[in-house]
Amino acid sequence: MKILDDEKDKLLDHEYDGIKELDNHMPVWWLWLFYFTIGWGFLYMLYYQFTGVGPDQHEQYEMEIAAANEKYGGGDSEDAEVATTAWTFETDAASIENGKTIYSGTGNLCFTCHGAAGEGLVGPNLTDNFWIHGCEAGEIAASIQHGYPDKGMMPYGSGARISDEDLTDVISYIASLQGTEPANPKAVDTSRAVECSIE
Ligand code: HEC
Repeated sequence: MKILDDEKDKLLDHEYDGIKELDNHMPVWWLWLFYFTIGWGFLYMLYYQFTGVGPDQHEQYEMEIAAANEKYGGGDSEDAEVATTAWTFETDAASIENGKTIYSGTGNLCFTCHGAAGEGLVGPNLTDNFWIHGCEAGEIAASIQHGYPDKGMMPYGSGARISDEDLTDVISYIASLQGTEPANPKAVDTSRAVECSIE
């Protein structure tokens, strides 16, 4: 038979327990794939290692950190400067209205934890003159910016979710709630909150 004749030529001269091996060619597609990976590896080394055109791990890390700082305003970007600006309570109706919209919106969900009227639910009552983390404009802004992740309140700060401008309106809205005495106020956490009146 022709095929067997052909196989005779390819037969390698070793044998294990009657098992013989043919010296067949590797499939052409497989060979090309192999050459391709060699070429790819060569170009890869040229691009990342030898010419330094592509960023290495450290450069990629720096790039990601810079991008995150830009997005979330951390590090030594300009946003961080803005975040330390002095906070003040606005008293004009437009600011307070905007603050209320942000507080009551489904984007930030403040009302779900602090109550629609600020009376407190999971989070503390924001209408009384007892505060856990201080009642100065800067302290309230800081509370919202940094959040209390261990208590369930996420950080909203530095323009990532609420811009500094909007945050001024939110703290102004909170200030406007002082002494409003909503229904079902949450009791003061006397073990932690201290008396503090917003000026
Ligand atoms: C998932 C629930 C939750 C959400 C949403 C939430 N908070 Fe809070 N917040 C809390 C809790 C809980 C505390 C109390 C932290 C503690 O016990 O130290 C708190 C504390 C605060 C404080 C400090 C109160 C104090 O007594 O010093 C302020 C101000 C505040 N939140 C405002 C906001 C605003 C504004 C929003 C929306 C942008 C918001 N919170 C969204 C749960 C929440």
